[in-house]
Amino acid sequence: MIEPLLIDKSKKGRLAYCYPPLDLPRSFDHEFEHLPSHLQREGGARLPEVSELDVVRHFTRLSGMVHGVDNGMYPLGSCTMKYNPKLGEEIAQMAQFTQIHPLQDTSTVQGCLSVMYNLLEDLSSITGMSWGSLQPCAGSHGEYTGLKLIRSYFLKRGDLNRTKVLIPVSAHGTNPASAAVNGFDVVEVASNRKGLVDLDGLKSRLTDEVAALMLTNPNTLGLFEEDILKISEAVHEAGALLYYDGANLNAIMGKARPGDMGFDVLHLNLHKTFSTPHGGGGPGSGPVMVNDLLRPFLPKPDIVLREGGYAFDWDQADSIGKVSMFWGNFLVFLRAYVYILRMGSEGLRAAANHAVLNANYLAKKLKPYYEIPYTGGIMHEFVISVKNYKEQYGVTAEDFAKALIDEGYHPPTVYFPLIVDEALMIEPTESESLENLDAFIDAMIRIAKRAKSDPGSLKKAPISTPVGRLDQVKAVKEARVRY
Ligand SMILES: Cc1ncc(COP(=O)(O)O)c(C=O)c1O
Repeated sequence: MIEPLLIDKSKKGRLAYCYPPLDLPRSFDHEFEHLPSHLQREGGARLPEVSELDVVRHFTRLSGMVHGVDNGMYPLGSCTMKYNPKLGEEIAQMAQFTQIHPLQDTSTVQGCLSVMYNLLEDLSSITGMSWGSLQPCAGSHGEYTGLKLIRSYFLKRGDLNRTKVLIPVSAHGTNPASAAVNGFDVVEVASNRKGLVDLDGLKSRLTDEVAALMLTNPNTLGLFEEDILKISEAVHEAGALLYYDGANLNAIMGKARPGDMGFDVLHLNLHKTFSTPHGGGGPGSGPVMVNDLLRPFLPKPDIVLREGGYAFDWDQADSIGKVSMFWGNFLVFLRAYVYILRMGSEGLRAAANHAVLNANYLAKKLKPYYEIPYTGGIMHEFVISVKNYKEQYGVTAEDFAKALIDEGYHPPTVYFPLIVDEALMIEPTESESLENLDAFIDAMIRIAKRAKSDPGSLKKAPISTPVGRLDQVKAVKEARVRY
């Protein structure tokens, strides 16, 4: 059923809540007089006039139309849409954390600063790095910050020649974007037949103009870069640095550390790996973690523990400065800290083990029905190609994704990574039980059979949603942001 807009339900004079008449002089009537007349509204704002019950029912109905991790599986590859324990939510909503001000005297927020300090300590030991900054507010923001550190490092050394950043073809799109906004030229590194970095190809590109190689491990095909130590050696021999995109840490946390693999700098996605609900634009947190080489350049202020307690240290001569509000997205840190404390190192390791086991179970069960081009060393996610279905039955990755909606699932990531034709990228996460995985497998098999027997029906999907298939490009090309 289509839910009408509140404005369409409006009835003149209907009210939800009514303030008592104003008993103070009005002062704001003339506030906007200086605005040019063509920008001034001619009459009152057109707001819906509805009762409280209308509003409550409207939003309750809308909330039921939304698919989230809390009401169904969300196998969105490269996104780690795992269950976020409610304990973290409860603590993040406590007034002791929400009713504080960033500019409060630090002596009055020692508890909050201790959370930030301890979280940095925990993240350092989980990643094998020296220290970090919690300021970046997204994974991509962490990438931007990390590359800025690399830039400052070479500038400080007077090495102005290093203008290139190497990035594998399978990389997440934010990697080249972050390099480009930092003023670097992006150079692609090819994958080999196994879907891993082609070591010889990499070596041939490692000139004295290269500042860094950006890598995620496992990569965006869900595969572990088995030559990572050789890669690290080659990059460092060439005088360049190694950047780790930590968005895929869920596959290795508690088991392997980027610091031990030779990475110099990385970002994490707390909103993926460390339990903050995400999607739809935030809030996120993409802390950047570094080794000793890059530590002097970290954003300021640093959080330090002095004799008198925790404090912000603004006194860092080589710092790149602030990259956002200096306290970052504090409530996301809190959830991450609660998650880490509650899981402990054994729990984190177990979560990574389960994430990998679940992905491998799905891949194995789906293999008879779907082409999985890269199967060597699948970690927490894997990529299906429905190219053969497209060629034989005209059914595309988009059609499969839409058909999954009718089966009650959020679609997987589609058409990414770009090196796989008609890609569906599936990440079940550790949250799903064996029964849930089996139900998903059954749904995928049903769709595969329909693709052969009744391809037209997939083209019509979804049919169970309030609106059917939308024109996915129109909203971008013809943005109408006014109703
Ligand atoms: C591999 C990888 N790198 C970087 C990012 C960027 O993170 P964010 O969306 O928080 O900016 C993502 C997010 O999808 C990712 O999957």
